[in-house]
Amino acid sequence: MRKKVSIVGAGNVGATAGHWIAAKELADVVLVDVVEGIPQGKALDLLEAMPIEKRDVLVTGANDYAATAHSDVVIITAGIPRKPGMSRDDLLHTNFKIMSDVVQKVIAQSPESILIVVSNPLDAMAQTAYRQSGFNRERVIGMAGVLDSARFRTFIAAELNVSVENVTAFVLGGHGDTMVPLVRYSAVAGIPISELIPPDRIEALVQRTRDGGAEIVKHLRSGSAYYAPSAAAVEMVEAILKDKKKILPCAAYLEGEYGIEGYFIGVPCKLGAGGLEQIVEIKLTPEEDAALKKSADAVKELCAVIGV
Ligand code: LAC
Repeated sequence: MRKKVSIVGAGNVGATAGHWIAAKELADVVLVDVVEGIPQGKALDLLEAMPIEKRDVLVTGANDYAATAHSDVVIITAGIPRKPGMSRDDLLHTNFKIMSDVVQKVIAQSPESILIVVSNPLDAMAQTAYRQSGFNRERVIGMAGVLDSARFRTFIAAELNVSVENVTAFVLGGHGDTMVPLVRYSAVAGIPISELIPPDRIEALVQRTRDGGAEIVKHLRSGSAYYAPSAAAVEMVEAILKDKKKILPCAAYLEGEYGIEGYFIGVPCKLGAGGLEQIVEIKLTPEEDAALKKSADAVKELCAVIGV
């Protein structure tokens, strides 16, 4: 039987995630949204592309969560995006209400599913989904590090005029201004970037990565990024559905790893059929460790405001 992935929120991120999943023939896709007609229309349109793309997947749209029943993975993108000048944190209260409502509906239909949270502010929304679903931490994972690392990789590849395939990078911490691009673990064909790029340029690329989401919001004026965020979520889905045991930077609920307890924060995670199968602990320098703790403090503050 084919796998089933439901996507809550048929806006740009949700619909584009559906597009990547169908294009990769990973699973049948269900788009759900509160707005009538949008999930149905986008789903039918995407379904009609399948003969051209030679992909055998079903794509359906619905307003009712009954259509999501027995999903293997549910991607939650529901919530409002930010506008120019807003930080991700400004979305906290509105998206907390939406997330709380969505999680109950999702778990009622798919109690065995794995949740991938994409809504912002990411780490606090992942924490909300974790607390309110009652799922174990293996089945609630936040998407941020794959996106932030992809942005860093894009900028490194452009700087050196090399293939993006040659560039590996790791961005840890919260998905916010305090994110922690790990320069030491970023490499081009195995060569550390510090051997290839002068320090001031590395710092500029790091800063552009931190501001990566805002840079897109500034261009778009209304709405935020969606191609890269949805591709990032789908890389996580693929690792889970194909049991790839792939190590990706994701927001995971920490229980003492990295000296952090009781919060979601971006760390290297092994994803497979069981969802979060392992948190990989790497040794950080005192500066990196301090940056990660600072990032965790920012997440804690947000979680305290909404009481999760
Ligand atoms: C970004 C938003 C989606 O980083 O958080 O683009």
